[in-house]
Amino acid sequence: MRVILLGAPGAGKGTQAQFIMEQYNIPQISTGDMLRAAVKAGTELGLKVKDIMSSGGLVSDDIIIALVKERIAQDDCANGFLFDGFPRTIPQAEALLESGVDIDHVIEIDVDDEEIVSRLSGRRVHEASGRVYHVVYNPPKNEGVDDESGEPLVQRPDDQEETIRKRLAVYHDQTKPLVNFYQELSASGKAETKYANVPGVGNMED
Ligand code: AP5
Ligand code: ZN
Repeated sequence: MRVILLGAPGAGKGTQAQFIMEQYNIPQISTGDMLRAAVKAGTELGLKVKDIMSSGGLVSDDIIIALVKERIAQDDCANGFLFDGFPRTIPQAEALLESGVDIDHVIEIDVDDEEIVSRLSGRRVHEASGRVYHVVYNPPKNEGVDDESGEPLVQRPDDQEETIRKRLAVYHDQTKPLVNFYQELSASGKAETKYANVPGVGNMED
């Protein structure tokens, strides 16, 4: 099964990805997590994208498309995968379509902007695993540390209110048009892709 999770920053893509990957036994491909790992490791890619990411802008389509192509060619993707944070622009979606990868489901998670600001301001992450918590909505068992490893949780550099607002503006401008793109693709019958919109509010497990 090949799935795209679409949604604004903080809509809960990473949170829902954890449920879906366990249930369907497919890997999560988060371009954001991959880029953050490159920044942390100080690779050439990491140095190139660090400032763009902390300012809330988007990394260039060329870089992202190359990164994703390389990742989905790996063995663990043979039975499917879950995209979290890709595609994010029309050119990325077109490149994916042209590469002949059939997507079964596009799921849009819908959350309004003010809710997003409160979610992202309270988010804490375990860097090594990508596990996501929230100080109020989804607190770890012990304050400030990851449930499984016991390692400290951190706040992402792009989770400052001003940067959150910038990311939301970029989302409405560059990513939201993908909703139309996939609705039309789904209706056209040209691909097997099914599109669904789910409200991203309420209990995380629902
Ligand atoms: P990326 O890592 O993809 O960030 P994002 O899209 O901004 O999304 P987030 O990770 O912030 O949110 P999420 O939807 O995963 O929410 P989460 O589950 O954590 O990208 C980062 C940057 O990398 C981009 O800005 C860009 O620079 C670059 N990049 C990445 N991909 C790119 C691409 N394809 N092209 C170009 N550039 C790219 O949840 C958020 C919080 O809410 C958590 O605290 C969680 O506990 C809480 N929460 C979740 N669900 C609920 C609920 N139901 N109720 C209450 N709280 C909840
Ligand atoms: Zn995420």
